[in-house]
Amino acid sequence: MIAGNWKMNKEIGAAKSFVMELLPLIEEITGAEILICPPFTVLHPLYELLADSQVHLGAQDVFWEKNGAYTGEISAAMLIDAGCRYVIIGHSERRQVMGETDLNVNKKLITASTAGMIPILCIGETLEERKAQQAEKVVSQQLDQALYGLSLEEGEKLVIAYEPIWAIGTGMNASGQDAQQMSRFIRQRLGQKYGPGAAQAVKVLYGGSVKEENIEEFMQQEDIDGALIGGASLNPVSLANIVRLVGNG
Ligand code: 13P
Repeated sequence: MIAGNWKMNKEIGAAKSFVMELLPLIEEITGAEILICPPFTVLHPLYELLADSQVHLGAQDVFWEKNGAYTGEISAAMLIDAGCRYVIIGHSERRQVMGETDLNVNKKLITASTAGMIPILCIGETLEERKAQQAEKVVSQQLDQALYGLSLEEGEKLVIAYEPIWAIGTGMNASGQDAQQMSRFIRQRLGQKYGPGAAQAVKVLYGGSVKEENIEEFMQQEDIDGALIGGASLNPVSLANIVRLVGNG
């Protein structure tokens, strides 16, 4: 799975041009699940353009209430209505800049999953936590708290993105080996919670300065099923090149 997180970038015109340039570049490629997570305003315009393509749409956030007096928020039903099935939850930028807590993340995750969406849960440690040998502890706490109360029924889908905060937007990606070690740890933890079958069915992505030059290093790892990509997903040629390196054709 190659997922692009556009963050707060691209208005409708630029987003449509991106898609028109991307689609012919990836037309012949098979074997890669492709996802774009643009800003809310662009979801529906892109849905119409992507309807017959192999590119899925995701949102970057969701609120936990169904509707009502929550100025500025977007519900799962609204996202589904706009044409998207996936939703990023708990990105470190929301945790750090918007003060989102593990409890908020948990409520969003349960809401999205109950509504039939596929959550992409983001977890990851800071540089200080890694240096202090606390990375696994932090990640397992984030995982446990985010998934609290979630019963992963058979066939129900969940994506976990391991995004070490120090690797996001810095050009300083984790090594393939470190990313693999944490992905294995995450999968083992999921195995303890939900059983080995369900843990195997969860997609674990790596995110943090992924680009054409390093995608293969991550995809070679046993427990890494794909990547969540920020900067390099904003350019259709670089995204298409990454998809080509991951898929066939
Ligand atoms: P970059 O690929 O720009 O480092 O961003 C990663 C990210 O935050 C994806 O969610």
